[in-house]
This record gives sequence, C-alpha cells and structure tokens, in this order.
Amino acid sequence: MSTAITEGRPVPGGETVRVEFEDGIAWVKLNRPDKRNAMSVAMAEDMNRVLDALEIDDRCGVVVLTGEGEAFSAGMDLKDFFRATDNVSDVERMRAYRANRAWQWRTLIHYSKPTIAMVNGWCFGGAFTPLICCDLAIASEDAVFGLSEINWGVIPGGVVSKAISTLMNDRKALYYVMTGEKFNGKVAEQLGLVNEAVPADRLRERTVEVARVLLEKNPTVLRQARMAYKFAREMRWEEAAEYLTAKADQTTFVDKERGREKGLAQFLDEKTYRPGHGTYKREGDS
Ligand code: COA
Repeated sequence: MSTAITEGRPVPGGETVRVEFEDGIAWVKLNRPDKRNAMSVAMAEDMNRVLDALEIDDRCGVVVLTGEGEAFSAGMDLKDFFRATDNVSDVERMRAYRANRAWQWRTLIHYSKPTIAMVNGWCFGGAFTPLICCDLAIASEDAVFGLSEINWGVIPGGVVSKAISTLMNDRKALYYVMTGEKFNGKVAEQLGLVNEAVPADRLRERTVEVARVLLEKNPTVLRQARMAYKFAREMRWEEAAEYLTAKADQTTFVDKERGREKGLAQFLDEKTYRPGHGTYKREGDS
C-alpha cells in the first residue's frame, strides 16, 4: 500500500493503482500506462486492497474507475497473467484467478458504494468485466473497444462472455466476439455498454457532474436501490415482488435520514419541492 496522505490519513493504493480523493469522489486509476494498463496479478492485488479500503472510507462516496494515460485498460496482461500462469502450480494459477475475479466482478457487482467507469481510451477483452460491473459508464467518443480475444487465439473467458451478455444483445455480442472488430465510444453507447459517450475534453467534467448527482442523494436509499435492482433482475416476478416489498420496508427501517417521511412531507404538506424535478431537501443542504 502507498503511504500517500490526504487530510492526515493514508490513501489506499499501490504501484499499479493510484487513488485520489476529491469532494467525495474516489478516483481509482489503473496505473500501468506504459503497458496500457494491462491487468497484471499485482494490479489485481492492489485493486482488491483499494476496493476493500474504499468501501469503509468516508472520504469516498462514489468510486470512479479509470486509467492513467491513453488506456482504460488493454485487458488481461498477456505476459503477466496468461503466459506467467502457464507453467505454475495449480495453487499459483488459482491465486492469480482468484485475485482477478475478486475485484473485477465479485466485489464490484455488489459494491456498497456507487461506481462509475470512466473509459478514457483503449478497452479490450478482460477490461469489459470491470467496465460492465460498474453501475454506470461514461466513455470518451474516441475510446477504442474490442473483444480481441479471437485475434490471439482464445475465447472471451474469465467471465467476459457472461458479462457482455448482460448488456449486449446476442447478435451484437456474437458479432464482436466472432470478428474481434474494434468500435468506438459512440458505438459503445449504442450497444448499451456505456451510458453515454462524450468528447474527450468533456469526459472528466461529465463524469464529475454525474458523480455529484449521486453524491446529493440519500446514500442509504441509493445503496438499497442499486442492490434491489441488481438482485431483482435475477428473480422471477413473484419472487421479485416479495423481495422488493421487503427491501422497501427495510429501506425505510434502516434509513436514519428518514428520507421517505421527509420526501412525502416536503411534497404533500410543505409543497417545497417536486420529486419529478429533483431530490427532497436533505439536512445540511443550502
Ligand atoms: N498484455 C500485456 N502487455 C500489453 C497488453 C496486454 N494486454 N497491452 C499492451 N501491452 C504492452 C505492450 O506489449 C507494450 O509493451 P512493451 O513496451 O514492453 O513492448 C506496451 O504495453 C505498449 O503497447 P503497444 O502495443 O506498443 O501500444 P499501442 O498504443 O501501439 O497499442 C493496443 C495499444 C491496446 C492496441 C495494443 O497494445 C494491444 O493490442 N494490446 C492487446 C489488447 C488485447 O488483446 N487485450 C485482450 C487481453 S484479454
């Protein structure tokens, strides 16, 4: 872990991952720009420590995952992950697989804080997994995406094929799996892989705008809403209805801010806001 300090406290990070805090946003940067942020085992271990630390760090309200330099990430490191695990023991190979699985999907998919992938450049193969497992994604229009696995003789493994099937339709997904053809941020937006694509010089500004909207929401309800959506989509209708009713009750119960009560009172009694236009006035709002 690095020894960088912010507000007198250590900042998580390591050789391959850099973290900066800025007004509630934790900027998490994959930091191997000379290797186009290819994901090595060391990077996976750093990312696991960083995500664990940020989940319980009150300087972080939203995580933005991005890459240093000209890449978001060129995918799994062909040398340090694939070749390096060819001739090692099963235990060593499992260690590498587990480290990557842990942060790329197991942790990210149900992370307790909102996550935004900010795709600043190259995004290939294995990088699709953390991209898809972030809640939201914003890309530079000229970012370049590709399921390049077919081009070097492997399948989109790890969990890439599963991940793309959750956002892309079968025709499009199979087209890119089978051809390895590249596409840009605009096309990624049309495919539903990212929420929006913006000109490169607007990327950070737009990401901050979206992060700020999230930071203004009641964090308890925001967390519950994200989790409810992610679990309910896997359920049958009857199960989802039961679960969501229970989740809604639980949300009211655990919400110390009493958002539901305030939201109703400010709209129905005080008539000071309209939910259709924005969030109710929270304590500390000016
Ligand atoms: N694994 C390991 N090393 C990688 C890498 C990867 N996925 N992607 C890039 N690198 C390394 C290159 O080998 C090179 O290392 P070197 O300086 O020691 O020679 C360095 O990063 C810079 O890459 P380079 O290819 O020179 O950069 P570029 O800007 O010309 O091209 C890419 C960028 C992303 C198009 C190209 O590097 C590429 O095709 N990478 C592989 C992408 C891929 O198939 N990923 C899927 C993995 S699942």
